[in-house]
Amino acid sequence: MIDNRNEIRAVIFDLDGVIVSTDECHYQGWKQLADEEGIDFNREINERLRGVSRMESLEIVLERAQKQYLEDQKMEMATRKNEYYKGLIQKLTPKDILPGVPEFLAGLKGRGIKIAIGSSSKNSPLILERIGLDKTFDATADGNDISRSKPDPEVFLVAAMRVGIPPENCLVVEDAEAGIEAALAAGMQVLGVGFASKSERATYRAADLAAVRVGDILNAR
Ligand code: BG6
Ligand code: MG
Repeated sequence: MIDNRNEIRAVIFDLDGVIVSTDECHYQGWKQLADEEGIDFNREINERLRGVSRMESLEIVLERAQKQYLEDQKMEMATRKNEYYKGLIQKLTPKDILPGVPEFLAGLKGRGIKIAIGSSSKNSPLILERIGLDKTFDATADGNDISRSKPDPEVFLVAAMRVGIPPENCLVVEDAEAGIEAALAAGMQVLGVGFASKSERATYRAADLAAVRVGDILNAR
C-alpha cells in the first residue's frame, strides 16, 4: 500500500488546550460578563467557544441575550471580558503547562524539527510569557496576526511561512474541531488531543502529548 503522507519538518501547536489549559479562565471571564448582563451562560455553551475568536465567542454568548446590542456595546463587552480574563491568566505559571509538552518539544528540537505556535488568541504573548515558553518556539502566529479566525487556515499558514516550511510538511496539534478543520484546510496533517482526541477528521489522535512519542509521528510515513 502506498502511503503518501509527507515528511514532517515543522509542528505547529495551538496554545489554549494544547500547551496550557486556559479553559477555566475563559469560562470565568465570560461567566462574569454574562452574569452582569443577565445572560444565561454555562459550561456547555463555553465548549462552543473553543478555538473561536473573541468577537465570534461573544456572538455565541449573545445568542441567549434578551436584547440587541450595538457594535460599540459589543466592543465594550469583549474588552470587559478580556480584562477579567487577563486578571485570571496573570496567575498562570510554568506548572500549568500540560502533561508531556516539555518532553515533546524537546524531542522535536532534538530532531531538528521546527516548532511554532498557531493560536486564535490575542493574549498568546502574555500566556507564553507567564508559562516561561516565550523564547521556546521558532515562530509564533496568533490572533494579532490574522484577519480570519479558525476554521480559516490563515493562522497556520502564517506560522508555516514564518518557520519557512511548506504547509504539506507541517503537522498541527489541536484540541478544537475548528482548529482541526483549519489545519486540514491549510493542507497540513493534524494530531487531535484533549477535546479533539476523538475527532474522526484528525490524522492522529491522543489523550494528551504525554501519550505521543515524537518518533511515532515522524516515522508514520
Ligand atoms: C482560543 C480559545 O485559543 O482563543 C478561544 O480557544 C478564545 O476560546 C480565542 O476565544 C481568543 O482568545 P483571546 O485571548 O484573543 O480572547
Ligand atoms: Mg485550543
